[in-house]
Amino acid sequence: MFFSLRPKESLKELYNRSEEYRELLRLTNSGLWVAVLGKRMTGKTSLIKTFANENKGIYVNLLGAKGVEDIAKNLLVESGLKFDELTINLKFLQIKWSKILDEAFQRVKDKIIVFDEVQEVSSPYFLKILKSVLDKYSKIRIVFSGSYIRILRRLLEPSPTSPLYGRKPAIITLKPFNHETAKNFLISAFREYPQVHFKEEEIVNAVEKLNGYVGWLTYYGNFRCERRLSHEEALKETVSEGSKIIQSELNHFLKNRRRELYIKVLRIVRTGARWSEIKRELDINSKVLNDILKNLTSAMIVEGNEGYYWIEDPITREAIKKLR
Ligand SMILES: Nc1ncnc2c1ncn2[C@@H]1O[C@H](COP(=O)(O)OP(=O)(O)O)[C@@H](O)[C@H]1O
Ligand SMILES: [Mg+2]
Repeated sequence: MFFSLRPKESLKELYNRSEEYRELLRLTNSGLWVAVLGKRMTGKTSLIKTFANENKGIYVNLLGAKGVEDIAKNLLVESGLKFDELTINLKFLQIKWSKILDEAFQRVKDKIIVFDEVQEVSSPYFLKILKSVLDKYSKIRIVFSGSYIRILRRLLEPSPTSPLYGRKPAIITLKPFNHETAKNFLISAFREYPQVHFKEEEIVNAVEKLNGYVGWLTYYGNFRCERRLSHEEALKETVSEGSKIIQSELNHFLKNRRRELYIKVLRIVRTGARWSEIKRELDINSKVLNDILKNLTSAMIVEGNEGYYWIEDPITREAIKKLR
């Protein structure tokens, strides 16, 4: 069902991503490793999970994983491997997680492995292991995804000293649906619920309010068709539930950052602003402001073009209002 809230896991549930899917197949088959990028709620997890499932691959969610130990544990669990099946002798050795991870990779060397939410992985060992895995196992196909580009940058643009230098991944960027596709998505999905009546103008209105973010459209449709809310209620609930999700992501992003200052910047760019306006209003140092804007744009929270900054996702705009 298109309006199911879980990430989609099969091609028949995945709306309008066949082009990206084929591209993923083509790139991985030609021996490249691939990064799937895009904003929250554009359907990254659904695309890569489907890709893994349809090709007997392995999906590994690395949310919260920081180092090699977390990655190794997750990969072992998802590939159904047990510690005592590993050849490495754990009794006499101190556990070397990088060795365990290397062996886990060796066991899955003929498969597609997708890593989701890699944004928090910061261990340099992970890069070393990836490099040796890619060199050793010519058939292994690795895809990763996440939404904070800045932290992904080390993977995407390896510096000359990085073990991955010269092995840049191919990139697939998921964009929100355009309005036409978004409308057609809603109509096709509503058809799965013949008992629910909807009006053309409601669809148009939902797409105007939520934009082409398939995730928000799915929430709206789920509220209408599963919870049987009216059009207005469903929209209201989508915005309110959605802004809670985004608020918690923003809170996470703002940890260890100058929270108050970031919130001030977010409040100003919420409705769109020029660099000079933000600078004037906050009266802060240019470099500090540039750093903040760079972090916000590479986290794909804020859009920026030629000195103008704005927030595209309507739910994020709503969430910012509520940040304290
Ligand atoms: N192509 C698609 N067709 C139908 N529903 C989708 C599609 N992509 C995502 N969804 C739905 O949208 C929501 C968010 O999707 P998800 O894959 O988690 O996005 P992301 O990982 O980019 O945040 C989920 O409820 C999912 O079921
Ligand atoms: Mg996701």
